[in-house]
Amino acid sequence: MLIRRALAATLISGLMASTTIAAGAADMTVGFSQIGSESGWRAAETSLTKSQAEERGIDLKFADAQQKQENQIKAVRSFIAQGVDAILIAPVVATGWEGVLEEAKDAEIPVVLLDRQIDAPEDLYLTAVTSDQVHEGKVAGEWLVKDVGDAECNVVELQGTTGSSPAINRKQGFEEAIAGHDNIKIIRSQTGDFTRTKGKEVMESFIKAEDGGKNICALYAHNDDMAVGAIQAIKEAGLKPGTDIKVVSIDAVPDIFQAMAAGEANATVELTPNMAGPAFDALEKYKADGTEPPKWIQTESKLYTQADDPMKVYEEKKGLGY
Ligand code: AHR
Repeated sequence: MLIRRALAATLISGLMASTTIAAGAADMTVGFSQIGSESGWRAAETSLTKSQAEERGIDLKFADAQQKQENQIKAVRSFIAQGVDAILIAPVVATGWEGVLEEAKDAEIPVVLLDRQIDAPEDLYLTAVTSDQVHEGKVAGEWLVKDVGDAECNVVELQGTTGSSPAINRKQGFEEAIAGHDNIKIIRSQTGDFTRTKGKEVMESFIKAEDGGKNICALYAHNDDMAVGAIQAIKEAGLKPGTDIKVVSIDAVPDIFQAMAAGEANATVELTPNMAGPAFDALEKYKADGTEPPKWIQTESKLYTQADDPMKVYEEKKGLGY
């Protein structure tokens, strides 16, 4: 299981934890290899990383990899050649990082992983700022178990990007939550690549294959954007999302709260887009006096349902990078 090894974890309360300006920040240059712009959550993470850097006087060099690991590896090599003080990587997939991380290590440039985990020895990076993605999947699955009770429930699953840690771990966590509840079954599972467009397309194919959707009780989407696309597909099929087909997903982006307020989505698990705040805090301390952060800085995973005043949360979220 990715990174859930016995790591020391520090729970960071997402958006709160990151406004201090540490000594040395002003002269730091940090390269950031971002995955791309596949989701609303991703756009918010990019925007918060840029604003956090600006507030702290950090010179941020930003590279958008357009979903390709090879572009990320090129960007990291270019940051190394430029002699940056640190590198942030949001790794698109979990494997294939050892080579370039060895190069960063040889150049004595600390690397911080943002929001996704990797399969590589821990000494190749300073820390990883991520949620517990298995737990996120469990929270979503436990919500469904409670919501359906003893009723039969066929679930369709929209997975995130193949080979990415959230796709692997959120699947595992959900399966663990429904294990032993024989009334709940995942009948179809396919990647929607974390995008709205693919979420809609794949949901259309699920609906077609399952008697116009009549055989589907719930959708579990590994992110809200895919859920929002799928909600559209459900409506176009003449069914009511949130009622005929329950919708549970992950991220807590503003649009899912609008859907919840309209009764079209049921639950989401929050992932803070402010991964950069804790990352910069760790880097500033490391730079100031060599303090090593824990290998895993864990962010919170809070469940929201229709009972949580979705429009109020929507308004609050809109100001936070979205
Ligand atoms: O790695 C975090 C995931 O990546 C988010 O849940 C998803 O929206 C994004 O694309």
